[in-house]
Amino acid sequence: MLQSEFITSSIGKKIVIAVTGLFLFGFVIGHLAGNLLIFAGPDALNSYARKLRDLAPLVWSARFVLLASVVFHIWTSILLTIENRAARPIGYEVRKTIQTSIAARTMMLSGLVILAFIIYHLLHFTFRVTHPEISHLTDSLGRHDVYSMVVLSFQKVYISAVYGIAMTLLCLHLAHGASSWLQTLGWNNERTQPLFVRISAAVSLLILIGYVSIPISVLCGVVK
Ligand code: HEM
Repeated sequence: MLQSEFITSSIGKKIVIAVTGLFLFGFVIGHLAGNLLIFAGPDALNSYARKLRDLAPLVWSARFVLLASVVFHIWTSILLTIENRAARPIGYEVRKTIQTSIAARTMMLSGLVILAFIIYHLLHFTFRVTHPEISHLTDSLGRHDVYSMVVLSFQKVYISAVYGIAMTLLCLHLAHGASSWLQTLGWNNERTQPLFVRISAAVSLLILIGYVSIPISVLCGVVK
């Protein structure tokens, strides 16, 4: 099979979705680890953000791969969904959804909501255009004050709520995605699949707890 034929085949598309999804999964874990530094105080988080800025060429390469992964992941998922729908134009007489989980059935929806969230999140924290009052904060050492930016944002209940909803959908998406990629790459079998499903659900739940612990701690006044 030619390389281009492979990529456009159904299994080729699934592999593109699995590999890009795996990279995005890695980013979500790495980003969480960095964000959890908020519990170590302003200096820890601000100096981490400063170090990332100092590693500019490396960060820009990672950003490029990240953006390419997002584009390929979404585009290939849309193509595969259209292809699958076209393969059964009449639709199932009785929709066989009983055995599939909510996460599996809502992958496209949760994926599109996550995309909308990422656009909002970048406008919020990276380009800092949605909330001008947090756009130019600096700490006593003259560094960008990421700590205060996050705290002042999450003190607003509606911002914390938006993040909470988006991160819940993200973890539903990850729970199904993580259990499917091993299957797509052919690295599991019927016997190991239930175990992988449980491990994926547990890891996704831990990721959710890690992320939502930040707005919740700010709202409760634990991080201020
Ligand atoms: C409590 C939750 C979160 C917090 C506090 C947070 C915090 C931040 C901050 C402060 C930045 C800007 C860094 C800077 O420019 O100095 C950022 C960038 C970013 N965040 Fe988050 N984030 C959270 C959740 C998420 C989630 C769930 C995702 C993915 C679905 C995500 C994806 C990104 C991306 C793609 C960037 C841009 C990275 C870059 O500029 O290279 N974040 N985040």
